[in-house]
Amino acid sequence: MPSLIIDTDPGVDDAFAIALACAMPEVTLLGVTAVFGNVPLAMTTRNARRLLAFLGREDVPVGIGAAHPLVHPQVHEAYDVHGSDGLSGRADTLPEPRARASDVDAVTLMARLLEAADEPVTIVPIGPLTNVALLLAAHPRLAEKIDRLVIMGGGLAHGNTTPAAEFNLWSDPEAAQRVLAVEQVPVTLVPLDLTLRCTVDKAWLTALAESGPIGAALAGFSADTYAYYSEFLGRDGVPIHDAVAVAEAAVPGLLRTAAMPVEVDCSYGPGRGGLIADQRPEGRRRGQPTDRRPVEVAMEPTDGVDKLRELLLT
Ligand code: BDR
Ligand code: CA
Repeated sequence: MPSLIIDTDPGVDDAFAIALACAMPEVTLLGVTAVFGNVPLAMTTRNARRLLAFLGREDVPVGIGAAHPLVHPQVHEAYDVHGSDGLSGRADTLPEPRARASDVDAVTLMARLLEAADEPVTIVPIGPLTNVALLLAAHPRLAEKIDRLVIMGGGLAHGNTTPAAEFNLWSDPEAAQRVLAVEQVPVTLVPLDLTLRCTVDKAWLTALAESGPIGAALAGFSADTYAYYSEFLGRDGVPIHDAVAVAEAAVPGLLRTAAMPVEVDCSYGPGRGGLIADQRPEGRRRGQPTDRRPVEVAMEPTDGVDKLRELLLT
């Protein structure tokens, strides 16, 4: 049974991802770590704690992570996608946690959980990669306790924040570049190219809202994200990017992957934060091959998009 740590910036789709991890019997959720991203750190931490309280999982510890990227200040949050508080203005409908906030920082929490684990742990970074980069820099020997990273991030064809860059990589390109370079840690990258194909529509959200209180809350959180993405996509649909990564972490092999060397554009030009993936087939990487190690890039759900949507309704 995979044991997971979710590193997150809730965020509407992060809320779906956390709820999914709590609902899936295949998963042991060891901890959640918060990072700046969609909204500032104080809000992502509050949202993570309140979500776990709402889901009846206050036993899951929350670590407080980075408030800023490693090198360059964050340019803007994603209020336009996730609303004024990261949950379409509805964070206050979630209960206050009963337990007092633990003030353990994210890196310490991840390190303690990894050290204590009998089996290697899957980390699921679904926000900027700052916390994970700091963990790997501060505790390199713990790399061997990580089974793999299942990262939601990047776009091969295009970005969603700039033409080149997807939000999580764009928010801290230097952190993403460092994490992707750590040879000892296997990586599965879940890019926009896949998550934008796994959208759900209004009818799906209505069915979710009618499924019970948790479904109703998640559907309510989706209001601003749906408005943003239905315009971005030009159709009735909203992606729940981060839940796709959690689903793969919970059910390894759910997504079909292809191995390719990747790196992140850390320049200050228009490509900043973009994912550069060598999609040329192995053995045909002529010219100037990259010296980057290959990571597994998720290309499509092994059993099709509809099966994945069903799983996300769990
Ligand atoms: C990613 O960016 C965030 O806005 C979402 O929560 C997701 O992790 C998608 O680009
Ligand atoms: Ca996220």
